[in-house]
Amino acid sequence: MTFPIKIASRLDPIKPSITLAVTAKAAKLKADGIDVISFGAGEPDFDTPAHIKAAAAASLEKGVGKYTDVSGLLALRKAIAAELSAVHNTKIEPDQVLVSAGAKHSLFNLFMALLDSGDEVIIPAPYWVSYPDMVMLAGGRPVIIEGKAEDDFAVTAEQVAAACSGRTRALVLNNPSNPTGAVYTQAQIEALAKVVVEKDLLVISDDIYRQLVYGDGKYVSIAAVSPELAKRTILVDGVSKTYAMTGWRIGYTAGPLPLIKAMAKIQGQSTSNPTHIAQVATLAALTGPQDCVGEMRKAFDERRVEMVKLLRAIPHVSCREPKGAFYAFPDLSHYIGKKTAEGAIMDDDVQLCDWLVEVGKVAVVPGSGFGAPGFVRLSYACSMQNIRDGVGRLASALAKLS
Ligand SMILES: Cc1ncc(COP(=O)(O)O)c(C=O)c1O
Repeated sequence: MTFPIKIASRLDPIKPSITLAVTAKAAKLKADGIDVISFGAGEPDFDTPAHIKAAAAASLEKGVGKYTDVSGLLALRKAIAAELSAVHNTKIEPDQVLVSAGAKHSLFNLFMALLDSGDEVIIPAPYWVSYPDMVMLAGGRPVIIEGKAEDDFAVTAEQVAAACSGRTRALVLNNPSNPTGAVYTQAQIEALAKVVVEKDLLVISDDIYRQLVYGDGKYVSIAAVSPELAKRTILVDGVSKTYAMTGWRIGYTAGPLPLIKAMAKIQGQSTSNPTHIAQVATLAALTGPQDCVGEMRKAFDERRVEMVKLLRAIPHVSCREPKGAFYAFPDLSHYIGKKTAEGAIMDDDVQLCDWLVEVGKVAVVPGSGFGAPGFVRLSYACSMQNIRDGVGRLASALAKLS
């Protein structure tokens, strides 16, 4: 018998991460011997580059394995400050950097440090699943504005302005975007920068996919628009996606000193420093050879082109060209409301994705988890063979719906 434990009511509005749920379901089916192709995971399929692993291994012989400064090793914060200063064309000091256990942890600390009860954060949809829930966990209120597929999912300055109230603290800008792969243009960034100043907002710039851009996509930093924007921008970044280091759990924040200090206070009373050996590996990633990044980017780009081509060939499926990250975000709304041969109706994208994994043996993530019902997200951070076979399975399954 289970003992009845009352769970804190602050968790009432919080949903578990849908991407992790889809990945776990596909993994369970695979463990049961069922051949499922999963496009669920948001992580590179590559191994962490050899020189990064070697640096971590070598450090074990040199006493790594102790507590470090709560904010992260000074050498690492210096390397991060130098890199972010160059990318964002502004001077960032090592004291303005907090290293955490992944960018997810950085964002959590950030919302906890920033938001009073009822403070609002503007989140463009489609959004990364965790933003609204993190804002709510911190007592804040997510205010969702919707980017349209025909505008490549970009939100406009007018939408941001209209969403502002007396309680608005910040705009989240995830560029390139998970789940859409959209990359904001220079003109779009400048328009958003203008409204940020007019409405006296902060920008939370989640740049975790900044180095994964393709074709004519180009990462534009909102912090680099002007010194005024640099002051207002909180940079969230990390090594998970760029260096295939998801499991090492290192992310970082750079921003105004009082905010970074407040976040460090939270970290000091919760997790303390991120893992020592992972910090050493991150230092090697940031300061070592960068060809590995180019090689992985090239492979992602080839897979992106193939996946988009195959998706667009499925009847009634449209797919914008993703220019960054490693996701395609096709519109499957034509198939909502359709019936299986057995007569089951696909009421929504969640049901459709459940059926696709059970019957079609292909796992994709329902768009409603990202605030975009009718769409689904597929990660192309997997082999070309998986892309061909998996999108083939998707096409065959959808063809069974009428
Ligand atoms: C948009 C976005 N931000 C942040 C993260 C968190 O990355 P990590 O905690 O692995 O550094 C992810 C991971 O999926 C993401 O997609």
